[in-house]
Amino acid sequence: MIDEGTIAAAAAYARDLLAGDASGHGADHALRVCRNAAAIARSEGADVGVCRLAALLHDVDDHKLFPGTSASLAHAVSFLDAQGVEGEERHRVCQAIREVSFFANGIEPPSSLEAACVRDADRLDAIGAIGVGRAFAFGGAHGRALWDESGECRDTTVAHFEDKLLLLAEGMSTQAGRLLAAERGAYLKGFYEEFVAEWRGER
Ligand code: ADP
Ligand code: NI
Repeated sequence: MIDEGTIAAAAAYARDLLAGDASGHGADHALRVCRNAAAIARSEGADVGVCRLAALLHDVDDHKLFPGTSASLAHAVSFLDAQGVEGEERHRVCQAIREVSFFANGIEPPSSLEAACVRDADRLDAIGAIGVGRAFAFGGAHGRALWDESGECRDTTVAHFEDKLLLLAEGMSTQAGRLLAAERGAYLKGFYEEFVAEWRGER
């Protein structure tokens, strides 16, 4: 059983490692994914502790932020060592972290219920109002244009909606995730349509 002390320590660890990130991977993201993952895990009958812990640690070895540790999950592993999380629980936490990081754009089904819950929770944070906010924060941090109406340039924030974010709600793995994503996905689509209409001077 993963206890509350371990969860609190993981939240503090994520806060330390992710402090100051302006590209959408801050500790606030890890905390929201943790909350979403717990809610999904409870509905799905998954191991809530494994899901919460994996959610809190899912970006501490992200390949964009920590290229040197992403293959080994060295940050997560050193935390699990320090907390004495071992055996099957440790294996499932690491597996869920890997599948969020490396399968996020893929179509491969997650290999455990816990991995499915955490992956859906991560995706939920990329859609809805929070998803809109994160996308524009990312675009600002990377000096990107808002949109290219011709569709030629794909390196814009709104092209990212078209290429990825608007498709996420369709790709959820759990029933609970699908329900939550339907509402957030509708919000995201409404935002996108309003953005395009205002851009074109239709409203
Ligand atoms: P995560 O690691 O949480 O799965 P990503 O690393 O893919 O997410 O992205 C972090 C945040 O930045 C997300 O909200 C995502 O939508 C946003 N983002 C990633 N790439 C782009 C992009 N090219 N344009 C705008 N936003 C982006
Ligand atoms: Ni994430």
